[in-house]
Amino acid sequence: MYILGIESSCDDTSAAVITDGGLLLSNVIASQKVHEEFGGVVPELASRAHQQNIVPVVDTALRRAGIERNQISAIAFTRGPGLMGSLLVGTSFAKGLSLGLRVPLVDVNHLHGHVLSHFVKRQPDDRVPEFPFLCLLISGGNSQLILVKSYNDMEVLGATIDDAAGEAFDKCAKVMGLPYPGGPHIDRLAKEGNPKAFKFARPQIPGLNYSFSGLKTSFLYTLRDALKSDPDFINKNKADLAASLQSTIIDILLAKLKKAVEQTGVRTVAIGGGVSANSGVRQAVADFCAARGLEAFIPERAFTTDNAAMVAMAGYFKYLDKDFCHYSEVPFARVSV
Ligand code: KG4
Repeated sequence: MYILGIESSCDDTSAAVITDGGLLLSNVIASQKVHEEFGGVVPELASRAHQQNIVPVVDTALRRAGIERNQISAIAFTRGPGLMGSLLVGTSFAKGLSLGLRVPLVDVNHLHGHVLSHFVKRQPDDRVPEFPFLCLLISGGNSQLILVKSYNDMEVLGATIDDAAGEAFDKCAKVMGLPYPGGPHIDRLAKEGNPKAFKFARPQIPGLNYSFSGLKTSFLYTLRDALKSDPDFINKNKADLAASLQSTIIDILLAKLKKAVEQTGVRTVAIGGGVSANSGVRQAVADFCAARGLEAFIPERAFTTDNAAMVAMAGYFKYLDKDFCHYSEVPFARVSV
């Protein structure tokens, strides 16, 4: 069985091939540099770049997997959530190829893909999580605590009521004058800074929901006030600001994760999404799990950002269930897991 996965939800064009048991044969990602100078993803430019990238990316994925087009068993594609213009490119391409090759079409929720990326195997005996497990899904658009009961049964226990964790990283980084996306820059700077140098607001909201907008405002006000007396404040305190911001975000994330573990009694914890690439987050989750004797699944960095391996993986499970997608289905821009 060969499942071709296609991902085009935002600014990465990706194609991957997965075979029996979730074994990854190829995962090709073309990232778009065109957005850097604009300080964020420009939707129109993203869809144009997907149009240019999709044929060579799919071609390369098949070649690296060592298979021909006529060996493909099914085509899985990201149907949403994401940017509509970007999603349309992958969706239309997947539909066309599926019709041309006369193989089933499988639609994948991008967020399911992030959760199920933990089942992608590099080697046949790679370990995978056992159900049920908790997944902390943290990206530029989402921050959710998900109870994963099976491949296709997931319950959102908590989600952000305003900004996502990635937005908190990116917006604060922007205030510091760092390039977009700011998350990786904060991560790098934080390694040299003092996480206790500055104190920022922490949300006081009940339950398992998250909130990051108060932290963002508190960060902005700290900088605004300090800049009044010292115009060079950001430059002089870059590393300490980054370290303090990162440690506050980690504390917020971990507080609810701990609560969810206690409430559910689940013994396995996974993380996913772009922010799960953050070295501080990875270490904090690993330490937390080690201290409580929980099993931790920290994805390899290639699977933290948008990739088609996770789409092929989610598509694989739906293919096994014969849960196919009709050609009349259209992409969706917003939806929770
Ligand atoms: O899952 P993802 O690639 O896509 C979207 O949500 O669209 O996540 C992107 C987010 C951005 O906010 C980016 O700043 C953040 O993931 N990110 C990081 C790191 N790498 C990516 N945040 C903190 N530290 C990192 N190392």
